[in-house]
Amino acid sequence: MIELKNVTRRYQQGENAVLALDDVSLRIEAEEFVAVTGESGSGKSTFLHLIGGLDKPDAGEVVVNGLALQTASDKQLTEYRAHHLGIVFQFFNLLPTLNVLENVCLPLEFQGVGLREATVRARQMLHLVGMEKRERHFVHQLSGGEMQRTAIARALVHRPKVLLADEPTGNLDAANAEKVLEIFRRIADERLTTLVVVTHSIEVAETAERRIHLRNGAVAELVGGSTCPRNGE
Ligand SMILES: Nc1ncnc2c1ncn2[C@@H]1O[C@H](COP(=O)(O)OP(=O)(O)OP(=O)(O)O)[C@@H](O)[C@H]1O
Ligand SMILES: [Mg+2]
Repeated sequence: MIELKNVTRRYQQGENAVLALDDVSLRIEAEEFVAVTGESGSGKSTFLHLIGGLDKPDAGEVVVNGLALQTASDKQLTEYRAHHLGIVFQFFNLLPTLNVLENVCLPLEFQGVGLREATVRARQMLHLVGMEKRERHFVHQLSGGEMQRTAIARALVHRPKVLLADEPTGNLDAANAEKVLEIFRRIADERLTTLVVVTHSIEVAETAERRIHLRNGAVAELVGGSTCPRNGE
């Protein structure tokens, strides 16, 4: 379960302060599939980074599966990231010196899984996202959509309890977006992973069980995915 209690995140940029998240309190249950929507700059990536323990709030508390992230030790945070968390970043963050297969093997290596088993599991994941024919490519040899699908494979290969994804279908054509959505649907059906997906896509928002809509850093509305308005904002 993910819990945010009165979370505020402020960025000071010279004389201007940006209130990226403004006193946000909410709960996401362990097996939920939640879409986070909102205009550009509304605080969606900030929200995700706080849950991922990559950033700390200026006030308030973020608790994930019982672990209070800002008071957790480095060891606990490392353990959380290595074993319990998968993240698909908005800008992918693939390692340029590794090929596709090696990028996807990485989370398993962090867990101490042997190379042979890691390779088998990484290949299964790559097959799932339709990337099996590109496993020897380096990042600069991939299209944007291929980078995205590699990032999704990497985020899921170690079967995390929490999957955070920032615009995971943003660079994909309709067929590949549907493929990714199908993977999310399957994960949500298995009820093993909390899925928090930032999206501008109506299809993704409607597939989710619930939608958290942010406006100027605050939760503007919480609605079931199937009932969210079609006009997006
Ligand atoms: N490191 C930073 N320093 C200063 N301001 C920042 C920083 N990161 C984000 N912001 C500001 O905080 C606000 C929220 O940013 P955030 O990245 O969370 O938006 P977003 O909803 O993910 O937008 P998008 O849909 O464009 O990705 C924005 O106004 C942004 O300019
Ligand atoms: Mg963003």
